[in-house]
Amino acid sequence: MRIIIEPDYEAGSRRAAQLIAHLVRQKPDCVLGLATGGTPLGVYRELARMHREEGLDFSRVTTFNLDEYVGLDPTHPQSYRFFMQQHLFDHINIDPSRINIPDGRALDFERFCRSYEERIREAGGIDLQLLGLGRDGHIAFNEPGSSLGSRTRLKMLTPETIRDNARFFGSEELVPRLAVTMGVGTILEARRCLLLAFGEAKADAVQRTVEGPVTAQVTASALQLHRDVVVVLDEAAASRLERREYYRQMEQAQMRLEQEGIRALLPGSERS
Ligand code: PGA
Repeated sequence: MRIIIEPDYEAGSRRAAQLIAHLVRQKPDCVLGLATGGTPLGVYRELARMHREEGLDFSRVTTFNLDEYVGLDPTHPQSYRFFMQQHLFDHINIDPSRINIPDGRALDFERFCRSYEERIREAGGIDLQLLGLGRDGHIAFNEPGSSLGSRTRLKMLTPETIRDNARFFGSEELVPRLAVTMGVGTILEARRCLLLAFGEAKADAVQRTVEGPVTAQVTASALQLHRDVVVVLDEAAASRLERREYYRQMEQAQMRLEQEGIRALLPGSERS
């Protein structure tokens, strides 16, 4: 895992947006996996700015969102479909026919979930999957106990997640109990995963995800099995990582490697 620790939410969001923009420039027809929630808002703001001011072109990009609440219409202000329009799609030049978001109003969910997986395959797989981290260590709506091999399916939200998301709905009673979500197994097939966590409330989940055992009780810990994961944190979310200083040194070395080549890291080449 590549762990990047930035001073705060804004800097972390900018860094994550740069990684996404780099891919979009390199591969204009890339497939992005997108996430919702408070965490990626800053990333979407920055991507919208890059589109506006730097001409970052999304016209050939395909997107797949991780999840959607069951029972909410796409026009419901708390639906993830609505969220994505409001915070990203209305501000970039994406082709609406290339946007994929699970349908919370499907009547035959089994069939819908199979077809969602099929669409991902037909698009050539996800190049980069953006992920937020739940306080209980979940990714998408893969709540504790989710199989690490799970595929897109219906999942029941835990009382903790219902409480956490009540802030968006005004009260716990209004939060849907079910979601349709990509599985952990689906997520692990993305070529690169970009996990974000900001704020003190996520520090424990970050520590368990990065340094704890791989367990279905912390579904994000399955990312330890993936070969290309970038974790972007702010100082508060990184505060409980035991090997924090090592990750910082590793990231500095990575930056020097990218900018100056391997010679900069050989013995005797330390800067004074
Ligand atoms: P948040 O949620 O981004 O709103 O903190 C993250 C998650 O629960 O996946």
